[in-house]
Amino acid sequence: MLIEIADKSGFCFGVERAIRLTEEAAERYGEIYTLGPLIHNSIVTDSLEKKGIHIADEISDAAGKPLVIRSHGVTEDIESSARAVCSDCIDATCPFVKKIHNIVSQQPEASAVIILGDEKHPEVIGIKGHARCRAYVCADIAQIKALYESGELSYDEDAALVIQTTFDRGRFAEYSQDISKNYCRVKIYDTICNATTERQKNAEELAKRAALMIVVGGKSSSNTGKLAEICARHCTTVFVQDASQLSKQLIKGLRSDSIIGITAGASTPAYTIREVHRTMDEIIKTNENEELDFASMLEQSFRRVYTNNRVKATVVGINKNEAVVELGTKQTGYIPLDELTNDPNAAVSDVVSIGDEIDAIVTKVDDSNGVIFLSKKKVDSALGMEKIAASKEANETLEGVVTAAVKGGVIVITNGTRVFIPASQTGVPRSGKLEDLVKKTVPFKVIEINEQRGRVVGSIRQATKEVRDAEKAKFWESIEVGQKFEGEVRSIEDYGVFVDIGAVDGLVRTSELTWNRVGHPKDIVKEGDKITVIVKSFDPEKKRVSLSAKDPNENPWTKFVADYAIDDVIKATIVSITEFGAFAQIIPGVDGLIHISQISTDRVTNIASVLAVGQEVDVKIIDIDTEKSRVSLSIKALMEDAAPVEEASDAE
Ligand code: F3S
Repeated sequence: MLIEIADKSGFCFGVERAIRLTEEAAERYGEIYTLGPLIHNSIVTDSLEKKGIHIADEISDAAGKPLVIRSHGVTEDIESSARAVCSDCIDATCPFVKKIHNIVSQQPEASAVIILGDEKHPEVIGIKGHARCRAYVCADIAQIKALYESGELSYDEDAALVIQTTFDRGRFAEYSQDISKNYCRVKIYDTICNATTERQKNAEELAKRAALMIVVGGKSSSNTGKLAEICARHCTTVFVQDASQLSKQLIKGLRSDSIIGITAGASTPAYTIREVHRTMDEIIKTNENEELDFASMLEQSFRRVYTNNRVKATVVGINKNEAVVELGTKQTGYIPLDELTNDPNAAVSDVVSIGDEIDAIVTKVDDSNGVIFLSKKKVDSALGMEKIAASKEANETLEGVVTAAVKGGVIVITNGTRVFIPASQTGVPRSGKLEDLVKKTVPFKVIEINEQRGRVVGSIRQATKEVRDAEKAKFWESIEVGQKFEGEVRSIEDYGVFVDIGAVDGLVRTSELTWNRVGHPKDIVKEGDKITVIVKSFDPEKKRVSLSAKDPNENPWTKFVADYAIDDVIKATIVSITEFGAFAQIIPGVDGLIHISQISTDRVTNIASVLAVGQEVDVKIIDIDTEKSRVSLSIKALMEDAAPVEEASDAE
């Protein structure tokens, strides 16, 4: 048989807060009073009594003394009297109940408030006592309906509906549809507390799988009563105040693979839940033992474990803050969450699953309560330390998850062991935030181990540098002329741009950026641009790579030689003028030179007096040098072609 405790069970936020405020006040004043039992659990109130926390039935019982208002809250009048009569009034009303007080007190005097809940419950009495308008308590939809049918409430008047924090959410869901449909002037405030809903949901989910549900809590606790009511819809359910009410009878007739579920109300302390769990465990074991043969009983009775023993344990239960384990002994083993793992962000279920066989070290044997406490992280740490030492020896890179940013660095967990990475070794720049690394998996090198102090220091920087160096070495081994890369422009200079192609930054000279003429590289690209580049040449010694961003398929020279030939007469645009001639663009990317001697049949000494940049001219192609991709143009040749033939005849 398997015992499972509902994830959400025991003290809720409001009860925990009330107990903390009360205990703090008791420490301050020595002796204090609570107006009524602090919570509906006599085990807790008995133990509080021993700490000087007494119960006052009336305010007058605490006259002149400090008084605590419990989590249920009280009416406005009672609160005022308490402040007037007592030496101090500590308000431990749960903030969720306080919220309902505010809603109710803010309703206009002419309107009405409907409180869905138990009219005898102190929380409901307190809520009603904050209303400044007519207030009605209804236990169910039938009573709301009756209010309208009797004329007490008119269908035309505004009303607010609030709900007792512990009300069954399933029932409320049914009612709310009915209310919205039939009483449209009612404004519904969903004030059911999530703690209650979650407990109810968890308990119901467990009850559906269980053969028996044990609901633990005070008999007068309304939320515990509701848990029992919900569980009883799905399986046999017993409502107990503590472990003393458990007996072997409960498991009579249950199959050996049955699940026994445990849940507890919001006012049940963790130690009572644990005691119920331990006792049920013993009952099951005793029952099983009775079915064992004598030899196995004898063997089991001899099995003992002692503090610091390393043992094998099987996980049989998972609670919010601990794993429950079987050791093959009479006692039940518990591994608290902080002894399961070094990772402060992990939940119990992240570390172990039911049925897992794990190694653990016994940290405490409590024979009087039949409980053994163990640590899994101690075993993991010892094993982890061995693995870490071996990795350092072999200069291996380890991986771990960053669990926290601390003063001066971050903590990484690897193989169950904490490793400190100083800020300077994280690779995060001074302006960066170490917190950004939390929850990330990082590679690191171990740089220092102090086994006695259990201290390991690592470096992410060393590991990433090693990876980068390896990438660079691989890059230089495999680089080839003509190889294509997708790179990112890192910086722009007057002579070209540097492009990150992975392991190194290569240079694309301005003339290699595009087939067209370029003034400045900035006219073509900007930092961060992604561009495709081709390796033109490289020097592994000097670690230099020359790149080109020109696409060979777009080479304008190829187009030029296909479309043009020597003696073609074409139009070209002057793009620059030099001492020895003028360059004219034939097509984008291909310029031809009109040498100074080819500008005119007359002698030209100052080119700028004859031609201007941007001017379109008729030229004749007089030479094409395909090897050097050069074109020679001539205006003079056209002039000569156009010269009158007669003149030549005359000369003859
Ligand atoms: Fe408050 Fe919800 Fe608990 S209303 S007292 S947190 S059940």
